[in-house]
Amino acid sequence: MDLGLTGKVAIVTGGSRGIGRAIARELAREGSDVAICARQRQALDEAAKALSQETGRRIIPIVADTMSSESVAQLVKATVAALGRVDVLVNNASTPGGMVRGPLADADDKTLLEDIDTKVVGYLRCAKAVAPHMRQRKWGRIINIGGLSGRRSGNISGLRNAAVVHLTKTLADELGAHGITVNLVHPGATRTERTDAETERRAASNAIRRIVDASEIAQVVAFLASVKAANVTGVAIDASGGSIPVMFQ
Ligand SMILES: NC(=O)c1ccc[n+]([C@@H]2O[C@H](COP(=O)([O-])OP(=O)(O)OC[C@H]3O[C@@H](n4cnc5c(N)ncnc54)[C@H](OP(=O)(O)O)[C@@H]3O)[C@@H](O)[C@H]2O)c1
Repeated sequence: MDLGLTGKVAIVTGGSRGIGRAIARELAREGSDVAICARQRQALDEAAKALSQETGRRIIPIVADTMSSESVAQLVKATVAALGRVDVLVNNASTPGGMVRGPLADADDKTLLEDIDTKVVGYLRCAKAVAPHMRQRKWGRIINIGGLSGRRSGNISGLRNAAVVHLTKTLADELGAHGITVNLVHPGATRTERTDAETERRAASNAIRRIVDASEIAQVVAFLASVKAANVTGVAIDASGGSIPVMFQ
């Protein structure tokens, strides 16, 4: 299936490693040029060089912190200057699992606010900065990376992922008339460079009985970014291989 991504331009936040890097790779393999951002320059530059060599597409490293509106504005400006446009935004940058995981007595409010600032408000900042460019072209794709802690109890920072569901549907309803879709992909425990054997073993209790690789999350994202997914918007897709045993989510 031709996803129609040749010649498109994407921004992937948190593209220096992990799931973001796998998404940048997949979009580039499908013919897109990609701007990747992260805060640490060295890892970002190395990732851009490697992905560019691997895919033959333009992969531009832009140091940016999604906790800052100025930094996000600069990210979008630099992307348009280097690549000419923005068609696809993948909001992915955050601390996986969040930083407030223990019992209530140990929950630190400032740390929780930082988690929310990165994942919820950070995603909003990036969407707000790219939307005018997408509206101008009457076409756009915004894909938010959530996490299944938003669908189950047990991790206070998981509330970020529930909030991103709300943000996704609200933006989808506002932007749909302009040819822009907004969707959410929930990874479960996913294999990246930092996954250890114990995580692999525990993740294999899902329906497909094996951990999902970051490249498989990337394939779902690439479909949602494609011209073929024009009729899918405002939805949250569980891409964990069936890690939660409930029917209506
Ligand atoms: N891996 C999993 O099993 C899993 C499961 C469920 C959900 N998720 C979600 O999937 C996404 C990616 O997770 P991952 O495991 O691939 O994470 P990761 O390997 O830790 O990578 C995170 C990326 O985000 C960047 N980043 C973090 N904060 C940032 C900020 N404020 N501004 C700009 N860049 C920032 C990091 O680079 P710098 O540190 O250099 O900024 C890095 O490039 C996250 O939203 C996570 O919550 C992951």
